[in-house]
Amino acid sequence: MIKKGNLYYPTKEFKKQAWANSPSVYKEANKNPKRFWADLAGELVWFKKWKKVFEHNPPYFKWFVGGKINITYNIFERNLEQRKNKVALIWEPEPLEERPRILTYYQLYKEVNKFANVLKKLGVKKGDRVGIYLPMIPEVIIAMLACARIGAIHSVVFSAFSPQALKVRLQDTEAKILITADGYWRRGKVIPLKNNADKGIKDTKVRKVVVVRRIGNKIDFKKGRDFWWHELMENQPEYCRPAVMDAEDTLFILYTSGSTGKPKGCVHVCGGYTVQALWTGKLIFDWKDTDIFWSTSDMGWVTGHTYSCYSPLLNGVTFVIFEGAPDWPSADRWAQIIDKYGVTVFYTAPTAIRMFAKYGREILKGHKFETLRLLGSVGEPIDEAAWQWYFREIGKKRCPIVDTWWQTETGGILITSLPGIGPFRPAYTGIPFPGTRFEIFDEKGKPTKAGQEGALVLLPPFVPSLLRGVYKNPKKYLSTYWSEYGKKVYFTSDAAVKDKNGLIRIVGRLDDVIKIAGHRLTTGELEAAINLCPSISECAVVGVPDKIKGEVPVVFVVLKKKIPDLKKTVVAQVLKEIGPIALPKEVYQVEDLPKTRSGKIMRRILRRLFTGEKLGDLSTLANPESVKKIKKIVKKMK
Ligand code: PRX
Repeated sequence: MIKKGNLYYPTKEFKKQAWANSPSVYKEANKNPKRFWADLAGELVWFKKWKKVFEHNPPYFKWFVGGKINITYNIFERNLEQRKNKVALIWEPEPLEERPRILTYYQLYKEVNKFANVLKKLGVKKGDRVGIYLPMIPEVIIAMLACARIGAIHSVVFSAFSPQALKVRLQDTEAKILITADGYWRRGKVIPLKNNADKGIKDTKVRKVVVVRRIGNKIDFKKGRDFWWHELMENQPEYCRPAVMDAEDTLFILYTSGSTGKPKGCVHVCGGYTVQALWTGKLIFDWKDTDIFWSTSDMGWVTGHTYSCYSPLLNGVTFVIFEGAPDWPSADRWAQIIDKYGVTVFYTAPTAIRMFAKYGREILKGHKFETLRLLGSVGEPIDEAAWQWYFREIGKKRCPIVDTWWQTETGGILITSLPGIGPFRPAYTGIPFPGTRFEIFDEKGKPTKAGQEGALVLLPPFVPSLLRGVYKNPKKYLSTYWSEYGKKVYFTSDAAVKDKNGLIRIVGRLDDVIKIAGHRLTTGELEAAINLCPSISECAVVGVPDKIKGEVPVVFVVLKKKIPDLKKTVVAQVLKEIGPIALPKEVYQVEDLPKTRSGKIMRRILRRLFTGEKLGDLSTLANPESVKKIKKIVKKMK
């Protein structure tokens, strides 16, 4: 890249070959966003063309009204003629001695069709919800696409989530069928996924469980309820007619943390999501037929859905998925994978980048990263040090870095400078995608000036892939996204600031979401989990900065009854209710939590007590004496 002041620009060579290489794309798109998106949508195959591009009935809206489509038809039938025997998917298992699995577009097409027929045979119909609790193996993609083929709605649950977290999600979707596996590898250990699934489906409507044999570990198998994937697939026809879906029919539900402990099911639809998935991947990752793409996200997150499944497949790209941890069995496993497959575009989270950097130079020895041409970052703010390390050590100052901002709710990337245009600035996510109208508002809803922090909002006509609702919870949809600045302004819950070039930097969340290693959790959800412990009377969770993970939770508890090993108990409780991603860094027993006179816990003060920052105004507290006592406890334990 070329550096000019504090900005970076792509080289002439990169620019020349890029899909988007002239700022005129912004001018054109922003003149008429609806026309821009309609033109992009025109690249897909629609069974029936839409009558109206956009319809707004605040806080609800529709895109491509009356259009009929199927995303799998656009992945397969639209691509097969050109790419029948091109590799679609490379699966890298965790054990080094195990062989990878490679599926071409045609092979994947047949597997998807066969499994679509299996689902039909099991009684799944258009509009039914299907739970998917699978690790990173090809079957997770096959299962999702098979649902989409027949118009069933998939709801993928992260395989490291606890049985309890699975249960809550299954109860909300009322899925009657769950697809899981016997187990999977994680850091050299077998994770007994089927055991977890058995516990998770209790008290749900799940009556049929399809089990992929990944490991061959011993599992309970209940006749009449449990079915082996491979047995069901035997002798299935290799074609299943794609369901004709309305543009506004639901494609999938993906849960994200809610503040009360109950997760919110983000609803994504067939038409708009397909358009966004196709085009964001193409323009942001600049995919060509020769590219090998690897996104390290798990399928349980939206990044997995869009960029380890739908987007590369719609674009006919070859991509890698990996079962294991990026630093297992050696710290450079991720670099080995880049070498092994000649990855050209690599997409990961700042937490991973900071972890790689911490391992030190040693792990980079023997890796030249010559095949890489573009890097991406996602999920949390990337600090300047991590950006520079990524740019220098992995990208060798050659590769542009697309720092992509988006959310589970947005379905696709919405802010990042395009790699063939730029400019890029470390720690700044960049410029909104063409045709996308972002503003940074002050408290009164007025756009802020450059350099002034405010709330990041998205203005009409929004984007085709923005969520259409919170599953079965219209109140939550309205209060979370459409209340802060009225029903016509989508509130992202992020604070942001613009520089004089229009580049946006994300400052952090304005709500109680914390990002632990890029994973989204709310302090409320952690508190609800911990409060289930019978000896705990109440607790407060705060996110504190962490050098590698960005943020980690710290817990303050008030006890009803003494607990011998408090930290162990709280950790076990979080493991049981949520899973290993949310483990607290520290647990403090306190007599009282600082509260306002109306009884609200002042988490801001607790966080500052931990970090040692100035406490600020304490006059609104009902119990200021609690602060001194907590200060002492924190000091003693540090
Ligand atoms: O706070 C922003 C942060 O992650 C939130 C969305 O989290 P989630 O729904 O889990 O989706 C993550 C993957 C798309 C945002 O509200 N975030 C996401 N990307 C970035 C980011 N913060 C800073 N820079 C980013 N590139």
